[in-house]
Amino acid sequence: MTATDLPPGCGDQEITKAVILIGGPQKGTRFRPLSLDVPKPLFPVAGVPLIQHLIEACVQVPSVKEILILGYFASDEITPFIGEIRPLYPTVRIRYLQEYTRLDTAGGIYHFRDQIKAGNPSSFIIINGDVGGDFPLQEMLEFQSNLKASGKTPLLTILATEATRQQSVNYGCIVENKETHAVTHYVEKPETFVSATINCGVYVCSLDIFPIISKIYATRQQLFYEGKIEENGETWESIALERDIIMPLTAEGNLYVYHSNRMWSQVKTAGSAIYANRQYLAMYRRRQPDRLAGCNKGKGDTTPRILGDVYIHPSAQVHPSCLIGPNVSIGKNVTIGPGVRIRESIVLGDTVIQDHTLIRYTIVGWNSYIGKWSRVEGTPCDPNPNKPFAKMENVPLFHEDGKLNPSITILGCHVRVPSEVVVLNSIVLPYKELSRSFSNEIIL
Ligand code: GTP
Repeated sequence: MTATDLPPGCGDQEITKAVILIGGPQKGTRFRPLSLDVPKPLFPVAGVPLIQHLIEACVQVPSVKEILILGYFASDEITPFIGEIRPLYPTVRIRYLQEYTRLDTAGGIYHFRDQIKAGNPSSFIIINGDVGGDFPLQEMLEFQSNLKASGKTPLLTILATEATRQQSVNYGCIVENKETHAVTHYVEKPETFVSATINCGVYVCSLDIFPIISKIYATRQQLFYEGKIEENGETWESIALERDIIMPLTAEGNLYVYHSNRMWSQVKTAGSAIYANRQYLAMYRRRQPDRLAGCNKGKGDTTPRILGDVYIHPSAQVHPSCLIGPNVSIGKNVTIGPGVRIRESIVLGDTVIQDHTLIRYTIVGWNSYIGKWSRVEGTPCDPNPNKPFAKMENVPLFHEDGKLNPSITILGCHVRVPSEVVVLNSIVLPYKELSRSFSNEIIL
């Protein structure tokens, strides 16, 4: 008998696995030019790669013993990062499993089913790698166990939150039985309003999902060999959790909803990284204030003036006369000269910002240089604060009339901005040396 054959829950301890879906190089296109330099899951938000926030959420769950990161990025793009962070989380095994092609949100889970089942987990968590938030994972596991204890056979518990009527159609929309919380209807990105309860892309899943995916797999295989499925850049082995499993299974009554109004957002565009940065910094304030700059400020401290929530990497040198914040993250080995003002921005590693420059709603890429007395500013694309449950709009880069939509400013890596220029609502591709001011432009 192998470990996988043991009955669930067998052994001294209940084990849960966690699976984080990070996609691959063809995903994250709306995150360009930042995803040109680093795979989107490794993009730092609040000082830590996006995926590490998800790992930290999983590590908080005592029963999680292994985290499997599934994607189709080349292994050497992801495994060095895993090697670096492993010592930080000694209680959990963390591995990257590379799909040979895009298998979609359930195809990879099926492909690596033996790895997920090994050790007899009682269930496993699935997290979409492009969401950020304060996920009630332990509560979801308890919710699913309580359903089992009451004689139900839950297959999947979906974390859900509320959206506005207008925005809900951009997400997976869930209709539920309000008493039992069983899903009664599910539509992925409907054309008209279905429900304001939306899928957060975070699930607790029973191992009973595997025989179901296996049937879908067999059917798709048969259809492919009968010539009824065309592989238009996608393999017949790609299976989508929402389209192929959740939508057809709602009739069975064993999919459930767990509601949360805690912080949650998708990270699709660079603008949404600024918003996620703010939300994660606020989470540090509540849970790990030591991570924030200025929290341990004592007499004789030479840290700059800090407003609100700010993360500064310990190796960064920020002149004490600077005013930083709110909602700013400053990366490794950044140097910031006297009198600089930064708010609502992310400054990535090894960048130099010279004296008296102003930066607002901007992401400054790695190894960039900004001269003295310059101004680099973007336009916020925050959720409407006057609408309850409003989410961030992931506006496309271009408006229908072909003009650039106002957005945050992004400087790709190795960009040089000279002294005394203004860069407004612009996207500057990597390695560009600006020689003048720009506004509302993509600088190639
Ligand atoms: P878009 O609005 O088109 O981005 O759709 P979506 O929000 O429904 O996202 P999608 O279902 O494409 O992806 C959800 C998550 O799964 C993201 O974090 C993706 O990176 C990840 N993902 C998507 N396709 C794959 C895949 O083939 N393999 C793996 N491992 N992850 C994937």
